[in-house]
Amino acid sequence: MSFNKPAALAMALAAGALLAPAAAEAQGRLNLYCSVQEDWCQLMQTEFEKATGVKVAMTRKSSGETYAQVKAEKDNPRGDVWWGGTGDPHLQAAEENLTMPYESPRQKELQDWAVAQWKTGKQRTIGVYSGALGFGYNSELLAKKNLPEPKCWADLIKPAYKGEVQVANPHSSGTSYTMVATLVQLLGENAAFDYLKKLNVNVNQYTKSGAAPIVAAGRGETLIGIVFMHDAITQAVRNFPIKTVAPCEGTGYEIGSMSIIAGARNLESAKKFYDWALSPEAQALGARAESFQLPSNKSTPTPPQAPKFADIKLINYDFQKFGSSEERKRLLSKFDSEIKVSN
Ligand code: F6P
Repeated sequence: MSFNKPAALAMALAAGALLAPAAAEAQGRLNLYCSVQEDWCQLMQTEFEKATGVKVAMTRKSSGETYAQVKAEKDNPRGDVWWGGTGDPHLQAAEENLTMPYESPRQKELQDWAVAQWKTGKQRTIGVYSGALGFGYNSELLAKKNLPEPKCWADLIKPAYKGEVQVANPHSSGTSYTMVATLVQLLGENAAFDYLKKLNVNVNQYTKSGAAPIVAAGRGETLIGIVFMHDAITQAVRNFPIKTVAPCEGTGYEIGSMSIIAGARNLESAKKFYDWALSPEAQALGARAESFQLPSNKSTPTPPQAPKFADIKLINYDFQKFGSSEERKRLLSKFDSEIKVSN
């Protein structure tokens, strides 16, 4: 029996269509919780799918929000891997056994600070990038308002900047929790909370996501945004009139982290993603998405736009303490009772 060409083609296509879902099934699925910027999350999703054939369902939420979701889903886990976001809530999740221990064959390729995070987190979380906290301001708006250039944390609470500062809410945002923990380490707890009360007078909005304030500053909706310095650089690279500041008194930093969720339903895919995310190729995707953190794999080139750590006065951030469940809960509830957030 012989087929005419169109009929044969149609049959082949139909057979392919029938085979396709089975093939996708065979290569696996992954539910990815992602806590960096949307562009980077999407790039990680599509490139991992291309590299492995694993089908990825990705949800993007801020670090504190993702921690809360993983905790809420504890008895019925829906996520497999939580990639990105500040390290403190990943450490809290590790301590609470919401995530599981894993040792990647790529571990030896990583910077010491990335492996230190793994050790602090009972082998349940690992560093994927690092970034320093700071702020950025809209230089055109500053000139228009005839205001002095803010250079220090101390400047941000001056009456001149009343209503001109935006920062995220420390419950939802890892950036903002890093700010609270940084100020406590820099100034001592009492002085830090006095500072936060004064800052509150100058804050025009507490956003959900950590990077949102600098996006708003780029559009001229606020003058100053307290953010990770790399997030301010992203806006400058996108031609918004944003200047990035490393606070003169010194500042804290994050170890952006990754964890496999305890009870992950797609454990093999989760391990595959984890190993891939530590590779130099995957880590180079950050710069492609205009995210300028320091990558944790020693062979991944640091993007030339990344803030120079050597020029920033970094504090010796105590991840063990400020990533502990007790301390994070305590500081967040103190923030709620002492800082009267009006929005
Ligand atoms: O992707 C940008 C970034 O600043 C990361 O470096 C950081 O881990 C994350 O966002 C924090 O986001 P959020 O403050 O919304 O939790």
